[in-house]
Amino acid sequence: IIEQKVATLLAKMTLDEKIGQMTQIRHFDEFSPEDIKSGSVGSIIHTDGPTPGNTAEEWQARFIELQKQALDSRLGIPLLFGVDAIHGQNTFEGATIFPHNIGLGATQNAELVEEAAGITALEMQGTGFNWTFSPCISIPYNEKWGRVYEAFAESTELTREFTKASVKGHQGNLSDKTTVMATAKHYVGDGSTEYGKEGGNTTLSIQEVSKRLLPPYRDAVNAGIGAIMVGFNYLSGISMHAHKPLITDTLKKGMNFDGIVVTDWKGYSRFGKNDVINAGVDMVMAVDGDMDGFQKGLKAGVENGSVPMTRIDDAVRRILRQKFRLGLFDHPFPDTTLTKKIGTEKHRAKARQAVRESMVLLKNNDKTLPIPTDAEKIVVVGEHADNTGLQSGGWTIRWQGVSRNYEGATSILTGIKEMAEGKVAYDTTGTGVHADADWAIIVVGEKPYAEFFGDIGDERGTCSFTLTEKHKAYIEAYNKKDIKTVIVLISGRPLVVTEEIAESDAFVAAWLPGSEGDGVAQVLFGAYNFTGKLPHSWPVSVEDFNGKYGPNFWNEEVNPLYEIGYGLSYQDFKKNDN
Ligand code: IFM
Repeated sequence: IIEQKVATLLAKMTLDEKIGQMTQIRHFDEFSPEDIKSGSVGSIIHTDGPTPGNTAEEWQARFIELQKQALDSRLGIPLLFGVDAIHGQNTFEGATIFPHNIGLGATQNAELVEEAAGITALEMQGTGFNWTFSPCISIPYNEKWGRVYEAFAESTELTREFTKASVKGHQGNLSDKTTVMATAKHYVGDGSTEYGKEGGNTTLSIQEVSKRLLPPYRDAVNAGIGAIMVGFNYLSGISMHAHKPLITDTLKKGMNFDGIVVTDWKGYSRFGKNDVINAGVDMVMAVDGDMDGFQKGLKAGVENGSVPMTRIDDAVRRILRQKFRLGLFDHPFPDTTLTKKIGTEKHRAKARQAVRESMVLLKNNDKTLPIPTDAEKIVVVGEHADNTGLQSGGWTIRWQGVSRNYEGATSILTGIKEMAEGKVAYDTTGTGVHADADWAIIVVGEKPYAEFFGDIGDERGTCSFTLTEKHKAYIEAYNKKDIKTVIVLISGRPLVVTEEIAESDAFVAAWLPGSEGDGVAQVLFGAYNFTGKLPHSWPVSVEDFNGKYGPNFWNEEVNPLYEIGYGLSYQDFKKNDN
């Protein structure tokens, strides 16, 4: 039935309207209502920049207004509203923010991944979005890549499991108002570029690509994923945006993918214009000032015969098909009652569970952890302990994340204070002023970043993999014999912390926990056990990264400090299970 409806609608469309459907514009305020009413827009993306307001009601109202404009167009085709809700509805203060995918990978819990995706979808709909650019199903080969945390694991098998769960959780049966269309990205080889360069070149053989990188895409397609985003990277010198064999032959024909292939940011003008469309890309992301460049360029291509009309029809058919599958023609507007579902305690409890299950205990000498409830004085050290922006990483509130507290989130320090009321001192800048404490919980790690190389230091692009001198000094200040030191690492990837692990009594990889920092404290104090396992091999030294790739489990030239799957638990744990 959907196919019939698509065919009927397609038959009525002019070339301009078809190209309109293939156009995704960015932001709310950079186009006129006439652009939408004329049918020259198929979708709108929001990532950063001006927002329609601070409440879910304001966001929804804006989308409803835009959707009305689209319904006013000649054929009344509704819009798709897209966002990178990659660990929660993360453009919105007050929403539930889950651990980034690397943390979810550590949980080894596919059911939890599905639930997290379902909650994210619900909170997206509560804000008016119906399309997420998630999940990232890359297999990172090098931790230098600034998007390691967006991927679940370096293991294809784990990634496959979580991909299926994530698609199911986001999309459900797709046609009700509580789920959204998902996007698997970035097809393909984004995380396996040489030296971890975002948008770099992947020299893996096609056999390696087929063995390690393509299986999660096949799973996503089989699970009914609505969209796939092509990567900025090149595969043996060929831009993935213009890679016809992999897009049209492998993905569309070989895997029978019948959804939308979308570019990455401005992918049309960056990667060969009509070659991108001819390779099999259906929708162009973030067309703005160059709206005419794309629309006129594609129209000219069709008119001069260099872009076949069959290609345009294939693209539009896919876009309309997804809009029908999402039920947008029957219910184009979001359910306004869902605004009340954002950041509820029920959702936060699930995110807290995810935080607890994501934590990996790497070292625990002499049963340093759990911290006993009768500990007299505990000092918590470091700015990461009381800053919910820092604990959440990139793609939180803003594209590059924020380094401040944001509404509705709980810091790690708050959680620790709940566990040990009246016994906690806080030393934000690691001065050592509380060296009389019995326990020091030192929270150190990375600043938020998104894309590029990752940002351990003060400047983007420096990728040292080690802690900053400042953070090393925090540890130094409390590394006295009579203080038990527990280091909690906040990071989007394994870092080189061999010395810090050796110097501490206990060491915990907490990844990027998101809005529920108290989950970290609950495990440190033994209210719950550690169950997380490393989703990546852990490096020994920066030399491990001298080659093209990092210390992944298939890289036989490198011996990791800890193998993938490593993670300790409390041995004599008797309390409730996670
Ligand atoms: O979805 C993202 C992609 O992962 C990186 N470039 C921008 C896109 C839209 O924000």
